Amino acid sequence: MSKGKCVLAYSGGMDSTISVVWIKENYDLDVITLTVDLGAGPEIEGVAEKAKKAGAIDSVILDVKDEFVDEYIFPGLKAGAMYEDVYALSTAFARPLMSKKIVETARKYGAEFVSHGCTGKGNDQVRFDASIMTLSGDGESLKIIAPAREWGMTRDEEKEYANKAGLEIRDVGNNRVYSIDRNLWGLAIEGEDLEDTWEAPPEDAFSWTSSIENAPDKQEIIDIEFEKGIPVALNNKKMSGVKLIDELNIIAGKHGIGRVDHLENRLVGIKSREVYETPAAVILYQAIAALETATLSREQQRIKSSLSTTYSDLVYDGRWFTSLRENIEAFMDDVQKFTSGSVKLRLYKGSSTVIGRKSRFSLYDYDMSTYSTTDSFNHGSAEGFIDIYSLPSRIQAKKQKYNDL
Ligand code: ARG
Repeated sequence: MSKGKCVLAYSGGMDSTISVVWIKENYDLDVITLTVDLGAGPEIEGVAEKAKKAGAIDSVILDVKDEFVDEYIFPGLKAGAMYEDVYALSTAFARPLMSKKIVETARKYGAEFVSHGCTGKGNDQVRFDASIMTLSGDGESLKIIAPAREWGMTRDEEKEYANKAGLEIRDVGNNRVYSIDRNLWGLAIEGEDLEDTWEAPPEDAFSWTSSIENAPDKQEIIDIEFEKGIPVALNNKKMSGVKLIDELNIIAGKHGIGRVDHLENRLVGIKSREVYETPAAVILYQAIAALETATLSREQQRIKSSLSTTYSDLVYDGRWFTSLRENIEAFMDDVQKFTSGSVKLRLYKGSSTVIGRKSRFSLYDYDMSTYSTTDSFNHGSAEGFIDIYSLPSRIQAKKQKYNDL
């Protein structure tokens, strides 16, 4: 009788490489690895060989970069999705898309098991499990194996297990092995010396961004154009979303922009030290927010911002496949229909500053706002406005005498 099959989400990292061996040993299944290319760059190279070496019977690589940008990253950008105001949700956006591909691949191979290398302490297990169950008829037809959650090995024991199985693992300098997750939208770094919240992240923990010292001494001015809340051009050159993010990561990273050091509230109830490199995301969130100051009314800005928090939490918490997420996106699509225009930013030594914004739909009206001779604001009507506007407080002060000086 042929063995059962398991489709394993495979990044090529330590946890998922060990998982190939572990699933074979503990479940007696054939393992098919699935590497979803979300713009991880060089890490994708050699991934198929690594999987085969670890014992996978087949290894699938899917390039989903465009889908990732068009259906996850950009809707998120439009929605202002920044978890706890600093984390651009790079990993969180990736999980539902990966889950979709895992379920599709399992169906294609007739596998009854799927697996991911997440531990039992993180958010990712929740995102994968919840998404996979939601997409596969409540998990009845697909069983989920989460080796790192089941095996109960410490980091050191994992290293030992990997060594024994003859697996190559990424090692940085003096034996530090960070847990790294990367895609086009950002790089998340965890573990080792970063677990001490007082310890500054060592320079070699970073790979996309320059240190302030190494950033150019000369500023760089860039221009980003948006169409209905979607970035469409960089420095007046139209390009695909994937290319635009790639280029921005390089430009902003060179200036040392996009390093985030966060003590984060995980869904599972613990706080964890998270270090991110998200150069393009930092710039794009800053730019779209600047453009919105011109294209949205004050009330639209306020409502949008409160929904952004709910939306970010949904994405972070693994509730991508929900109606509420779609409802909020419908609002965002509508509210951003006039967010078209350009934003100019100055990049210099680790920070980016908005120095200009313009839109053909800008609500900024020069003649209304100016103090020059073309001023067309009706100063006379201001008096009447204030008279009515302050009426309730004046009456209350008089009748209830609480404000008598
Ligand atoms: N804390 C982030 C999140 O939950 C990133 C997790 C990334 N994982 C990693 N192995 N570094 O979305």
